[in-house]
Amino acid sequence: MTIPTSDQLQEQAMTATFVWQMSELGDPYAKILLRQLNPYRFCEQARELGPIHRSKVGPWVTPDHATALAILRDKRFGVRRADGERDYARFTSMDDSFLKLDPPDHTRLRRMVTPFFGARRFNAQRPRIESLLNASLDAIDTTQRFDLMAAVVRPLMNTLVRDLFRVPQAQAERFDRNCTTTGRVFEGFTSVEQFDELETAVADLSAVLRDLVELRREAPGDDVVSELLAAHRDGGLSLDEVIGVLGLLSIAGTESTSHLMGNGVLALLEHPEQWELLKADPDLAPAVVDETLRYDPPNQLISRVAHVDVEVAGQHIEAGDTVIILTGGANRDPLAYPDPNRFDITRGAGPDSLTFSTGIHFCLGAALARTAAEMTFRVLARRLPGLHKAGPPRRRMASSIRGLHAFPVAA
Ligand code: HEM
Repeated sequence: MTIPTSDQLQEQAMTATFVWQMSELGDPYAKILLRQLNPYRFCEQARELGPIHRSKVGPWVTPDHATALAILRDKRFGVRRADGERDYARFTSMDDSFLKLDPPDHTRLRRMVTPFFGARRFNAQRPRIESLLNASLDAIDTTQRFDLMAAVVRPLMNTLVRDLFRVPQAQAERFDRNCTTTGRVFEGFTSVEQFDELETAVADLSAVLRDLVELRREAPGDDVVSELLAAHRDGGLSLDEVIGVLGLLSIAGTESTSHLMGNGVLALLEHPEQWELLKADPDLAPAVVDETLRYDPPNQLISRVAHVDVEVAGQHIEAGDTVIILTGGANRDPLAYPDPNRFDITRGAGPDSLTFSTGIHFCLGAALARTAAEMTFRVLARRLPGLHKAGPPRRRMASSIRGLHAFPVAA
């Protein structure tokens, strides 16, 4: 894993000034990038500019469900430029993982781990997820104020990702700590201390993953690491690629799913009638997952690069141009969802939200995320019917990730 050089940091600072200037000129995407607490009103401003428009910051931007869906499924767009080069700075191994690769490398790497991510595997884990949640709640006095993120949500996701890798218990605390710190990369850096902290966590997560690889070399088992190592031995992928995929799963697995749960509980508590509905019928938990994914998604931006000139919704997009999909905007497109700004867990059938993306990069961990979030909503509704906010939630200040650092609650 590598982290930004001082040149990259300087470039970042210059970009921030430019983005600020463009936001002052009224550019909706620039306003979203400035980490505003509520991106949705800027998505609406973007919608007023048509299904797709060119931001003053540079990329094309779409908040339109149909346009976004078409782009994500269009083979003329990729995640890198047509020559295979990145058009973004590399921060963590995630940037070299298959999330950021086009076919054929994407296909080769994704195929290696797909068997581990079927819905059946995670359905079978429901009793384990439930007992992990119960153990977390048993360990705290829920009548007193506690942080839902630190006490319940993050420990659950860390454990489920460690399960996939079979991380030894002795390394659990180190693994969890490094995943959480590395996940902060999405927020950028505002101090040298933050930068140093990230650098240390990235290096240490890498070291833990390399040790794990060595361990499995001697004693393989039924886990993602052993599967990737077998592929490495057969010449299917390099050791760096093995570490890259493991890094991707570590960060992608813990961060977004924790935020899905936090955002969902926040939406429920801010809409008490919806919380009452769930308490009366916990089988609505999967609907809470779907509605949270649509209404307040943990990831707000998906990026693509045109590999050839393409016409999209009447606009000419040139080869090499970047398109940003505003997930939160597409999920609140009134043409796709009636009364889109309403949080309604009884909404029923409608098009899938774009929160897990679509097409060849459709989130591999969607079944795991769905199962874990569903069980969390179920268990909270059953065990803590008096759950309420016990202080203002502390938001993460990132434009791509939307979630809570801390969420004080009590029951
Ligand atoms: C609510 C939780 C999650 C959300 C919102 C989410 C969102 C996404 C999105 C939007 C993409 C595709 C980005 C693109 O099209 O460029 C993606 C890809 C991916 N996600 Fe997730 N994710 C979540 C949870 C997970 C979990 C739990 C794991 C695994 C432990 C995971 C692993 C991956 C992987 C490996 C990819 C790359 C797929 C590919 O490029 O083919 N995600 N995720």
